[in-house]
Amino acid sequence: MANRPMPNGPAHPRPLVALLDGRDCSVEMPILKDVATVAFCDAQSTTEIHEKVLNEAVGAMLYHHITLAREDLKKFKNLRVVVRLGTGVDNIDIKAAGELGVAVCNIPGYGVEEVADSTLCLILNLYRRTYWLANLVKEGKKICGPEQLREAAQGSARIRGDTLGIVGLGRVGTAVALRAKVFGFNVIFYDPYLQDGIEKSLGITRVYTLQDLLFQSDCVSLHCNLNEHNHHLINDYTIKQMRPGAFLINTARGGLVDEQALASALKDGRIRAAACDVHENEPFSFANSPLKDCPNLICTPHSSFYSDQSITELREMAAGEVRRAIVGRMPESLRNCVNKEYLTGTAVKGNNRYDSMNGAPPGYNYNPIPGVHSTTDAHPPLSVHSTAPHSTLPESTPNNHLPMPKAEQSSEVH
Ligand SMILES: NC(=O)c1ccc[n+]([C@@H]2O[C@H](COP(=O)([O-])OP(=O)(O)OC[C@H]3O[C@@H](n4cnc5c(N)ncnc54)[C@H](O)[C@@H]3O)[C@@H](O)[C@H]2O)c1
Repeated sequence: MANRPMPNGPAHPRPLVALLDGRDCSVEMPILKDVATVAFCDAQSTTEIHEKVLNEAVGAMLYHHITLAREDLKKFKNLRVVVRLGTGVDNIDIKAAGELGVAVCNIPGYGVEEVADSTLCLILNLYRRTYWLANLVKEGKKICGPEQLREAAQGSARIRGDTLGIVGLGRVGTAVALRAKVFGFNVIFYDPYLQDGIEKSLGITRVYTLQDLLFQSDCVSLHCNLNEHNHHLINDYTIKQMRPGAFLINTARGGLVDEQALASALKDGRIRAAACDVHENEPFSFANSPLKDCPNLICTPHSSFYSDQSITELREMAAGEVRRAIVGRMPESLRNCVNKEYLTGTAVKGNNRYDSMNGAPPGYNYNPIPGVHSTTDAHPPLSVHSTAPHSTLPESTPNNHLPMPKAEQSSEVH
């Protein structure tokens, strides 16, 4: 479909904010529309992002479907703030961003309960084999008598008294610990970054090495963030330190587990069963994974955080952070900036990194709602006039979509 003509008149002075790897801005738009033009790119890499966004966007929001390495960040000419719609910032080079004058924020609290509940759901499935038993029934298998039941439900285990080992006792790890205690688990944890005392508050046991945790646990659940120190934390070597026949659950990050090593441990029974919500390569597909043909494995599509409530909360919080960046001062007004240390004393784009992004002079406090209105006249934002060539959204949606470069225009980009 041909683009509609751009309106005449001065360029729109409102800052441009882009959702990089999604297309639905219906939650973000009402929060931002009086202070920014919001566009979406629906891209999986920066090569798919329209030049206008690369040249003009001061703010970007992204899920985990796109990576912002140093080279990607350099392509943005005016970027000042990146807000990750989620907790983990491992898909963004936060140091490079800081050095380029770009603040990176995450949304830490939105789905803690959902991830913890999903983790317990997976743990319960491994212990009680509900997923496999339900599949048997669905396939038409009739279980008659105790011998057939024993065969079908073999491997089902009692929870009470077993030891659950939590790697990483942050927000999610703590929520898992609290839930697991109620089921009768003896809960232990390993987290080298925490001060002493938390184990007393929670009534759980602390161990001081990963080896100790693996050695003592009947079930290991990963809840640490992925960083440069813990890639493939679970590998051939550390699997050998686990109890024979232990369970493994990963709802944290795919890169924490060497999937080749997990596959061979599942095949020879060293790990009795595993559940992974996150994978080394996402979107996950069994076809291209070493985990294909593995017995006793449940895989979900990085969905632990999701509930109808949490996703709305996440998007509202992300838009709120972008709004604070625009109407407040950078980086002081940001609530969850994760790279402040790299921002300090660095070269910055534009006039002054510590300004607000609305162009107000330093020291001028741009008024938040309700005092602030768009500085523009009644012209609609520029990008509204760009037709989305592959958008399935009705024209009346509040989303503004910048079209893809010519080469991409004919293909659907997710
Ligand atoms: N599957 C999902 O949908 C989903 C959703 C949200 C978060 N997550 C992931 O869950 C994990 C936990 O999130 P959170 O919000 O609780 O994070 P958090 O930052 O609150 O907690 C992480 C904890 O891990 C600890 N840690 C870091 N490296 C460690 C290591 N090598 N060994 C042991 N502990 C280590 C840290 O000290 C911290 O206490 C993260 O990886 C996050 O990306 C997944």
